[in-house]
Amino acid sequence: MDCILKLLVLAVLSVTGQGKLLRGSFWHITDLHWDPTYRLAAGNSGSVCNSSGSRPTPQAGKFGDYLCDSPWDLISSSVHAMKDILPDPDFIIWTGDDTPHVPNEDLGEEAVLRIIGNLTHIIKTLFPQTKVYSALGNHDYHPKSQLPPTQNNIYEQTQKLWEDWLDPASRETFKKGGYYTEKLLNQTGFRVLVLNTNLYYDQNKITENMEDPADQFKWAGQVLAEAAKNKEKVYIVGHIPPGFFEKKRHKPWFRPQFNKHYIELIQKYHDIIIGQFFGHHHTDSFRMFYSTSGSPINAMFLSPGVTPWKTTLPGVEDGANNPAIRVFEYNNKTLLVEDIVTYYLNLTYANLAHARWEKEYRLTEAFRVPDASPASMHRVLERIAHENCYLQKYYDFNSVSYDLSVCNADCRIDHVCAIREVGFEAYERCVEKEGASSAMPALLTIVFALAISLWASY
Ligand SMILES: *[C@@H]1O[C@H](CO)[C@@H](O)[C@H](O)[C@H]1NC(C)=O
Ligand SMILES: *[C@@H]1O[C@H](CO)[C@@H](O)[C@H](O)[C@H]1NC(C)=O
Ligand SMILES: *[C@@H]1O[C@H](CO)[C@@H](O)[C@H](O)[C@H]1NC(C)=O
Ligand SMILES: *[C@@H]1O[C@H](CO)[C@@H](O)[C@H](O)[C@H]1NC(C)=O
Ligand SMILES: *[C@@H]1O[C@H](CO)[C@@H](O)[C@H](O)[C@H]1NC(C)=O
Ligand SMILES: [Zn+2]
Ligand SMILES: [Zn+2]
Repeated sequence: MDCILKLLVLAVLSVTGQGKLLRGSFWHITDLHWDPTYRLAAGNSGSVCNSSGSRPTPQAGKFGDYLCDSPWDLISSSVHAMKDILPDPDFIIWTGDDTPHVPNEDLGEEAVLRIIGNLTHIIKTLFPQTKVYSALGNHDYHPKSQLPPTQNNIYEQTQKLWEDWLDPASRETFKKGGYYTEKLLNQTGFRVLVLNTNLYYDQNKITENMEDPADQFKWAGQVLAEAAKNKEKVYIVGHIPPGFFEKKRHKPWFRPQFNKHYIELIQKYHDIIIGQFFGHHHTDSFRMFYSTSGSPINAMFLSPGVTPWKTTLPGVEDGANNPAIRVFEYNNKTLLVEDIVTYYLNLTYANLAHARWEKEYRLTEAFRVPDASPASMHRVLERIAHENCYLQKYYDFNSVSYDLSVCNADCRIDHVCAIREVGFEAYERCVEKEGASSAMPALLTIVFALAISLWASY
């Protein structure tokens, strides 16, 4: 009640309409994970898709199942929803992971390339005039996650599939290392860096002992130094983010030295890096970057995936999600992200009735901030950390309104520390500190309850 009142008061006070003049918008889609084996068969008692593993799928429907990767009907529905909701975006960011979660033996290089080709094709067909900034995911390679730091057939063939989207110089760096940079929409003063952070993944055995795989850090440092000199504003795009998974404590993706290097890069060039857009988690979250003196200097937006696939990562309970697509509204002079609107498909409803894509939430409305600047995202984090109604709201959105269970004290620590601290040591300190401070109220509650019950029995 208290919470609802507060929201109402703030809603009345909030100013609207400001800054709309220079507002552009773009789509961010990620983790489509098409499973071509998805088949609905009458009387199917077992599984309808290979990506469910051995998990039975009695609830499966036309648009998918929470235990499976996306059927084509879901892929097609998502891209058509983009076309219906915002048919003419300034550009599209697409952060990879196109193939299903199946054993390597079930895919192979040809299958991976065919799947990337099929997804590229549907996006190009529906958005023929739109510039797409496309990044490789760890599932866009065979064998999965083993993306090499050198030229290879998959980078070359993917470069051909994406040729229309890439500037000539981008084609060259992409073929060699799966990364590229260009002026954003060919405009002076604006730049995009699309990174191949799969080279930093701890599952990637090929880059394990390397200091700077594919010289990507060196290259990014040079590009950013030049961008700083030219006073450009920069977006960074990639698949696997640095930092920790908010649904599993102590679970990072990058190897430690790469995580450190990435943070240093952001700290050095934070004043020209205006936004970072990543995927891989399939969940909806964000990451904060702070200066050494503790002020918020950057925010990374982790967009939820299209695939509803329930993760098999040990220690994650019920890690499925509803399919999501997302619009970023930005100031086309400063590149500041002004708002984020997430749309989703209630998969249960879609299978029962029809595919109804709905607005899930708008950042500035749901969290009462003026925009998505680092300072505003820091405020969002503080609300999540200290006010239960915001924590719960964030938690519902985290799985795209799939898991509506209560986010308890442990859950709060997992999410708050993952958002707040991208650095390995700082994250561990946060978990320790938050654990100690959350134990206090819990202890007090127990003492209080005991006192009450003693009093009552007396
Ligand atoms: C910026 O956005 C405004 C409003 O949508 C539009 O009129 C203008 O052409 C855009 N400018 C650029 C450079 O895209
Ligand atoms: C799907 O899984 C079945 C059973 O494990 C296997 O026989 C089949 O080859 C797989 N299909 C594909 C396309 O990989
Ligand atoms: C995928 O692409 C292949 C050609 O590479 C084509 O034969 C097939 O029909 C496509 N499938 C879909 C669903 O578009
Ligand atoms: C980008 O702009 C330059 C001029 O500033 C022009 O020569 C070039 O053709 C443009 N490239 C594209 C892909 O539009
Ligand atoms: C999704 O749809 C199902 C079936 O209509 C409904 O029971 C459920 O409450 C819906 N979930 C949300 C978050 O609206
Ligand atoms: Zn994925
Ligand atoms: Zn991934």
